[in-house]
Amino acid sequence: MDLDNSTKLEKVKQDLINNAKKHELYKNVLDTNGHIVFGRGSDSAKVLFIGEAPGFSENAQGKPFVGRSGKLLEEWIKELELKKEDYAIMNVVPIIPLNQEKKIRPPTEEEINYFLPETKKMIESIAPQIIVLLGRSSASIFDKNLIVGQAKKQVIGKLTTTLYFIYHPAYYLRNGKKGFEGLTQLKKILSENKEK
Ligand code: URA
Repeated sequence: MDLDNSTKLEKVKQDLINNAKKHELYKNVLDTNGHIVFGRGSDSAKVLFIGEAPGFSENAQGKPFVGRSGKLLEEWIKELELKKEDYAIMNVVPIIPLNQEKKIRPPTEEEINYFLPETKKMIESIAPQIIVLLGRSSASIFDKNLIVGQAKKQVIGKLTTTLYFIYHPAYYLRNGKKGFEGLTQLKKILSENKEK
């Protein structure tokens, strides 16, 4: 079931929206005629990609990773041979973070922590085998010292899962790279899990 229509995620989605409306970042949504951005993909995904926060395209469309970074992420998903029902995508902050000049900035630790209860509930409901942390902001909710391409077991409530850290697609885009080398270990884990 798609995250948007998922009954098991209905409550956490509503909680996320209610909390987001109370946060000062919400003025960015109102000022830009934008959206609070929930996840997209399957509510029983085996691979959950977690990014930072919506950019301008995501804010306009109300879906995560639909801009330039999203295009590269889709290339990674293709490379990993994931089917629609295999993956989901979300962010640690559901509102576009803007600076005084109305330019995009990374979310602060405080902003990430504010949404952390819903982030963790979403993860627990989806119960993925692997969480792919896209960049330091999302990795920081579990472990600030993760190394690119290295997997680590993690217990989140009742869920035991595997964390996999990779630089954010925007980082690779800035450096004119595709980042496929960061996927090698992930591919291996996915094919091992398939054999089980
Ligand atoms: N970058 C992110 O971290 N998330 C998005 O949804 C888009 C760009």
